[in-house]
Amino acid sequence: MVTSTTSVEPNGQASYAPEDQRRQKEMETAPIKLKVEDLNISYSGTPALSNVNLDIRENEIFGIIGPANAGKTSFLKCITLMNTFTSNMQVEGQILFNGMDIHKLKNVYALRSRIGVVFPLPVGLPLTIYENVALSPRLRGIKSRQDLDIIVERCLTRAALWDEVKDRLNSLGSLLSGGQQQRLTIARALSQEPDLLMLDEFSIAVDPVTTMRIEDVLKELRSEMTIILVTNLVQQARRLADRTAFFLEGSCVEIGDTEALFEGSVQDPRTRDYIEGKFG
Ligand SMILES: Nc1ncnc2c1ncn2[C@@H]1O[C@H](COP(=O)(O)OP(=O)(O)OP(=O)(O)O)[C@@H](O)[C@H]1O
Ligand SMILES: [Mg+2]
Repeated sequence: MVTSTTSVEPNGQASYAPEDQRRQKEMETAPIKLKVEDLNISYSGTPALSNVNLDIRENEIFGIIGPANAGKTSFLKCITLMNTFTSNMQVEGQILFNGMDIHKLKNVYALRSRIGVVFPLPVGLPLTIYENVALSPRLRGIKSRQDLDIIVERCLTRAALWDEVKDRLNSLGSLLSGGQQQRLTIARALSQEPDLLMLDEFSIAVDPVTTMRIEDVLKELRSEMTIILVTNLVQQARRLADRTAFFLEGSCVEIGDTEALFEGSVQDPRTRDYIEGKFG
């Protein structure tokens, strides 16, 4: 994983620093947060993602990399049952979230309240900065202004936005710059206190320095939640993800320990070519 200190043993196997070994062990025994079995997604009958089988464990950062049209966003969409609102999107297979089959859930909103999603471009609510972040806690029944103030400050700080907006919390979120709005979206996702946070190429609208600050926050957050990180920056997956899946043209080509994949230990040569920037 991530900030690992790896070396290559004479037998060609990568060996990991004690911190990484400890985390790998933890991951192997952690409960499964999301189980996906025989997942197939299509749009108007045209396949977009086929035969995906994977388990994501509690407190894992699970990276998904792959070029355009690989099916990455479609994968995230079906986890929040967005197909129920997209008439031409068909989903087959089983998705278990905390052991529950999401297709059998009666209350889609209860599921969505447990999953925070950040899309590539900010999706602001037509509300003040404060209310963008306070809305979800209010819906959970938190009424005290003091408690809400604490949550708003904490979420905006974690999203690396607090210092820039603390003096104008009552102005509209939509008046912020694109990068700031993206961080507001992250703050809003965090305000849900989600079990699972899914980020889809969050850094497209964010400058590199802020991206690194948010990456640091994501590393901290993994002690509290599971994170699925779809990224077009392969090095971002290397910095953050415990395991990484490589999606290509509607297939999950392989899933591996991130550091091992980046060290070249791949099952499919296309994974190595993509990581090395030979296509994409
Ligand atoms: N709403 C839709 N209607 C029809 N086809 C769609 C729709 N959304 C996605 N697709 C198709 O499904 C396939 C996978 O798209 P998806 O957006 O999941 O890929 P992606 O890996 O996220 O790509 P990118 O890196 O460009 O975001 C593509 O061929 C795309 O054209
Ligand atoms: Mg996408």
